[in-house]
Amino acid sequence: MKQSHFDAIQPICPVCRRDEQVESRLKLNHIAARSGNEIEAGVLLCERCMREYPIIDGIPVIVPDVRSHLSASLIHILWRDDLPDVIESLLGDCCGPGSSFDLTRQYLSTYTWGHYHDLDPEGDPDQPAVVAALQRGLDHAQPAPEGIVVDVGCSVGRTSLELAKTGRMVLGLDVNLSMLRLARQAARGEVRYGLRQGGLVYEPRRFAVDFPDAARVDFWAADATCLPLRSGSAAMMSSLNVLDCLQSPYDHLTELARITATGGRVMLGCPYDWSPAATDAPQWIGGHSQRTKRGGDSAASLRALLTPGAQPNSIERLHILAEQGAVPWRVRVHARSTMHYALHLLVAEAR
Ligand SMILES: C[S@@+](CC[C@H](N)C(=O)[O-])C[C@H]1O[C@@H](n2cnc3c(N)ncnc32)[C@H](O)[C@@H]1O
Repeated sequence: MKQSHFDAIQPICPVCRRDEQVESRLKLNHIAARSGNEIEAGVLLCERCMREYPIIDGIPVIVPDVRSHLSASLIHILWRDDLPDVIESLLGDCCGPGSSFDLTRQYLSTYTWGHYHDLDPEGDPDQPAVVAALQRGLDHAQPAPEGIVVDVGCSVGRTSLELAKTGRMVLGLDVNLSMLRLARQAARGEVRYGLRQGGLVYEPRRFAVDFPDAARVDFWAADATCLPLRSGSAAMMSSLNVLDCLQSPYDHLTELARITATGGRVMLGCPYDWSPAATDAPQWIGGHSQRTKRGGDSAASLRALLTPGAQPNSIERLHILAEQGAVPWRVRVHARSTMHYALHLLVAEAR
């Protein structure tokens, strides 16, 4: 965690905010390891509820239920990227398909390729689809007031690093610690991961990257539906391909509306790939209730939620400025399988 980001952003306790609507500022209570501006290990404390939030490998973990999150994330916390390739391959075979080891490698393969394939000397030189989608959002999101940019569900970090080119301070947020660690590594100039060829076979990839604006970016672990950020503290927020990964997409929308400053912009992109593994069907935005006025259409349902007065639970602060119906996004699964999505992308202003 960068001290400069902590001082400027002044994170709050997500539990005090969610449960009691109190914005209780976190204190940097203990520093166990630091290197210049970087706090590598330590503890943040809410002096109001006395909850502790750890900083692990330079990543502050400021999620509502720290205990269960850390215990469920143990594979990511203990993940090693220094194993010889032969040992990693052997571990992959021993743990087998469907193991947490295998799933972690699959996620890292899919998103690291998706974010950095253009910078890999042996990769695909085309601009990554997610970067192109972000650029389309940015075209409509500026000018925005002064202030920080928050990239929710940043995964392995490329969009956060691209957002730093706006000259603003950027915060990349995600719940997945191994992805955030890879994002930090990319910000420091190296991308290292296994690219899935198929089954349990991964090709080791290592290459240097250069993001001259990386000093403006920090990566924190936080939950998109209960964020540790002060109300009205962000000038711009992006949420790309995250809405359909959440238990409560609606809570994410209310968080985006709460945190965006008046006049600030929200860039929201989603393929509406609803799955009960991530979201209970009644919480989906569209994708069900085909018999109703909007025919279960997700884009129309989201539009209604972001149109003040359109329905009783419409979010009053956000007003749609621009929309695109089918922005390409692709997700590489393995060497012979890539999924092609068409994102609904919209940009809204907080008023
Ligand atoms: C489909 S990926 C999209 C990643 C990236 N934005 C992109 O477009 O390439 C969804 C991301 O959301 C993250 N995520 C899932 N649930 C989350 C939550 N509750 N809070 C924050 N991030 C979450 C995942 O770890 C993952 O990195």
